[in-house]
Amino acid sequence: MKWYKIPEIRNTGEPFIKKVKAGNKNICLVGYDGEIYATALSCPHAGFDLSEGLCVKGNIICPYHRYAYNLKTGKGGEGQNDFLQIYAVEVKDDEIYVGISSFWDRLRGK
Ligand code: FES
Repeated sequence: MKWYKIPEIRNTGEPFIKKVKAGNKNICLVGYDGEIYATALSCPHAGFDLSEGLCVKGNIICPYHRYAYNLKTGKGGEGQNDFLQIYAVEVKDDEIYVGISSFWDRLRGK
C-alpha cells in the first residue's frame, strides 16, 4: 500500500466532503463526526460525483438518486446490493494521508 499526503486539507474536526487526488486517483475525502474517511469519488450506482453528496447517520448519500453507502465499510444501503470502495486513512499531526493498494497488493491480500 502506498500512502499519499493530502496537502489541501488538515484535520480540524470540522465536517467536510471534498474531491481530492491521492496519487493519480480521484478520491472523495470526508470529515464526519470527528473521523476522516476516504472513498471512491464515483458513485457505484451510475457514477455521479459523491463529493457533491451529504452525510447522514454514518453514510454518504449520493445526490443523484440518493443511494447510501456506509462510510466505514462501503456497504450499500438496504436493497442496493452494492459497495463503495473505501480507502485507508491515517491522520498524523492533523495531516491526512490516504492509502492506496495497487492491483498486486490486493491480489496478495495487502
Ligand atoms: S448515481 Fe449515485 S445513486 Fe445513482
